[in-house]
Amino acid sequence: MQNKAIITSALPYANGEIHLGHVASTYLPADVTTRFLKQNGVEAYYVCASDDFGTPILIAAEKEKKTPQEYVAHWNKRDYEDFSAFDIGFDLFYRTSSPENIEFVRYVYNKLKQNGHIYESEIIQFYCPNDKKFLPDRYVIGTCPYCQAPDQYSDLCEKCGRVPEEIGSPKCAICGATPTKEKTTHHFFRLKNFGDPLFKWLEENQNLQKDVKKYVQNWITSGLVDWDITRDISWGVPIPGDESKVFYGWFDNHLAYISSAVKFLNDKGINGKEFWNSADIYHFIGKDIVYHHYLFLPAMRLGIDSEYKLPNYIPTRGHLTLQSKKISKSRNWYIGLKEFLGFYSADYLRYYLVSINPYSQDDLNFDWDDFATRINSELIGNLGNLVNRALGFTKKTFDGQIPVPDQYDEKDREVESKIKNLATELSDLIQKNHLDRALKKIMEFSANFNQYFQHKEPWKKGPGTSTCLFLTANAVYSIAIALQPFLPKSSQKIWEQLGMNGKVSDKHWNSISGLELKSGHVLGEIIPIFARIEDADIKKRKEKFETK
Ligand code: 2FM
Ligand code: ZN
Repeated sequence: MQNKAIITSALPYANGEIHLGHVASTYLPADVTTRFLKQNGVEAYYVCASDDFGTPILIAAEKEKKTPQEYVAHWNKRDYEDFSAFDIGFDLFYRTSSPENIEFVRYVYNKLKQNGHIYESEIIQFYCPNDKKFLPDRYVIGTCPYCQAPDQYSDLCEKCGRVPEEIGSPKCAICGATPTKEKTTHHFFRLKNFGDPLFKWLEENQNLQKDVKKYVQNWITSGLVDWDITRDISWGVPIPGDESKVFYGWFDNHLAYISSAVKFLNDKGINGKEFWNSADIYHFIGKDIVYHHYLFLPAMRLGIDSEYKLPNYIPTRGHLTLQSKKISKSRNWYIGLKEFLGFYSADYLRYYLVSINPYSQDDLNFDWDDFATRINSELIGNLGNLVNRALGFTKKTFDGQIPVPDQYDEKDREVESKIKNLATELSDLIQKNHLDRALKKIMEFSANFNQYFQHKEPWKKGPGTSTCLFLTANAVYSIAIALQPFLPKSSQKIWEQLGMNGKVSDKHWNSISGLELKSGHVLGEIIPIFARIEDADIKKRKEKFETK
């Protein structure tokens, strides 16, 4: 583990509320990782921003009779509030339309140009005679030339994940008319220049997921296409020397990873650029934006002589489906984050979403019944039960004081070694991005101690009772620290019930295995940490999805 890290997650468009699909694949895994790194003494910062530019946002603002600035300011604030309620602990949530980003984007463009990676070319662009507008990417729908999927946007095929060179049977997405083609001058980024260096970089980076790497390398081998970075609209970063045009959003948005991090660090009195270049860089994304993060983003960094280093990790995860169907805002088949948190606590959702989310491209499914089962039987039945019985019993029987252990028998030694190994076992999994397996391991650890407690029958107050309580209370102590990255609020509650002061997040990760709860230590007040989810309640939640 490096002692510095910058973590980012895909920037949400400032164009509508955050829903469960967003948080499952990117924001939550990135937050868990950041919390884990911080607990290990890594100087880690989690930086994000709203993705403010682009045609859809301009049009949405016009519809609401707002300036685009007002429109994105609203969503930036709202997103940040929703993320905060979900305990996503950004060190900075900034915006792609910040003065720092605008300046940086223009700087990068100029440097790419100096280095020979930009050219201008007259192109023929779709123009809707009906709407009297040039139609940027999102406003032309047609058939993907690679996989023949119908109804794909001209800038990204959602079926095969590629960026079509020329979409088949184009239609104007605003009015459905067949667009005409008109001439306009556009600026291009020579992505073709970067085939070899990108291939080499992918080859050498051992932290990237092998399957993703392989299909990106296949894209490179089958030939890259230069990239049109111009849009004929008014809302975006003006192109230096051609100020009436703006950059395509995917040229500027990922540069906000850098400009926002550097701003944050500089404001703290740290040299942002030096920090960036000596830190581990993580970009958490969903699988729909692999092309942009494994090709455009590294190519642009290579094109400015790697003045800002390329990512070490690009953890890429699948999409969330909801009750086994694709999430769709237009069909109202989605759950807003804010709405969800009105019903259940952030930690319930964090627990469930981490549990069902492997480190892979596979899609994961949110299911209300499964959610309730896992919360009730795993989180409450296993973990909540252990905390409550171990601490409750010590409270009752030993006046809340951790007893002095007696001689250890084989069973005691076995569970003691589980405590001693836990920190490393979890750390190995989390560093390899297997957050779901790490959480599962914590649950297994808890289940083991439930069995141990049951086996020792401390309520009979026979020999070995003190050892049992000493070790079980220490196991709860380990759990409080280990759970912090996953369930920050609940872990703090356990911490306080253990009678510990301060914040559990300040406790070093290695303390998980330190058996630091000493005999004579006095516990705090013991109350159940979690409340059961009732069937009737889940029934209500499912109603919205049953009528469809
Ligand atoms: O696909 C999206 O939702 C984009 N707003 C993600 C942008 S990530 C970027 F900044 F790299
Ligand atoms: Zn039209």
